[in-house]
Amino acid sequence: MKPVTDLDVKGKRVFLRVDFNVPLDEKGEIRDDTRIRSSLPTIQHLLGRGARLIVASHMGRPKGKIDPRMSLRPTAQRLAELVPNNIVMAPAVVGEEVAGLKKKLSDGEALVLENLRYHQEEEGNDPAFAARLAEDIDIYVNDAFGSSHRAHASVVALADLVPVKAAGFLMMKEVEYLRKAVRTPVKPYVAVLGGAKVSDKIEIIESLLAKADSVLIGGAMAYTFLKAQGLGVGKSLAEDEQRDTALDILAKARDLGVSFRLPVDHLLATAADAEADTQIAEVLPFPEDLMGVDIGPKTVEAYAAVIGQAQTIFWNGPMGIFEIENFSRGTVGIARAVAGSGAVSIVGGGDSIAAVKKAGVKDRISHISTGGGASLEFIAYGTLPGIEALER
Ligand code: 3PG
Repeated sequence: MKPVTDLDVKGKRVFLRVDFNVPLDEKGEIRDDTRIRSSLPTIQHLLGRGARLIVASHMGRPKGKIDPRMSLRPTAQRLAELVPNNIVMAPAVVGEEVAGLKKKLSDGEALVLENLRYHQEEEGNDPAFAARLAEDIDIYVNDAFGSSHRAHASVVALADLVPVKAAGFLMMKEVEYLRKAVRTPVKPYVAVLGGAKVSDKIEIIESLLAKADSVLIGGAMAYTFLKAQGLGVGKSLAEDEQRDTALDILAKARDLGVSFRLPVDHLLATAADAEADTQIAEVLPFPEDLMGVDIGPKTVEAYAAVIGQAQTIFWNGPMGIFEIENFSRGTVGIARAVAGSGAVSIVGGGDSIAAVKKAGVKDRISHISTGGGASLEFIAYGTLPGIEALER
């Protein structure tokens, strides 16, 4: 992958794919602009060197239809607040008016295109749509690590069309950290995985079994593993259809000598509700009318001890329903342990990032990935479609 610093961009029209898929509130205001700020080094580099920038991203999943609630306009406004350059919002992604605006750009100005996913051809990786995106473009730069697991037109087909291409600073940094964790993790390597579903994480778990020394499981995922072993988990969320997969993973971990840990105690609640009655349970089965909503204090202690020995840590997914204050202690405890470990720590996924922020330890994490799905896929496969397209 060639870095953006290798290119002479002065006076050139540069198509910059970013991931500005930021969370918006009900009023359409940006709740967290981390993804926009994360691409600022690339944007500032390009604008500062006289590029004529065309900034493109998706927002949400409008499924090929124009939906004003998923407009990129708020992100263009935020960008205009963050850089002194002239930032123009395009009325669409392609078309005559957009072509005119592209041509009118001066050196050091940027045009932000509308949501790429207003066109279903984007998700279809359609070469004809990519050709329209490529009109009047000299250079393609991908800084959208968080979107590079999607083989979409602006990520793959377009990169294949434009001969001069490079990776932005964010993309380079993400790949550098995650590649180390994939190729040469300093041992002990501890992976912490949480979240609701085993089915979302089968490939990542399997690939981690081959590399990690310990895998620590939390979140509702843990109940799928416990239930698969015949233990009663009350009304906890568990994927019955993943029983065989869960048993298979447990057997593989045993064969490979990986310490695959499940919670040893649990916070149980009558409902996934802030007002619900709670209790700590160490023994299974859980009462039929209770559900697990967080890992318990003994689990936090046990996991923290393993994390404390680690040299490399990858963490994705919360340990419980941490958005509810009463159910957040497990996730916050893990965040503190990861931050205090002294290991190279990589945290990916919106929820885990929110957790390290909530725990006030964001600055003590070595690398916070802007990609949720992308960081998981990178850890599982060691590359992503968008990276391969840049390398072709
Ligand atoms: C993300 O939020 O993880 C990326 O922007 C990708 O979004 P997607 O899951 O809708 O493709």
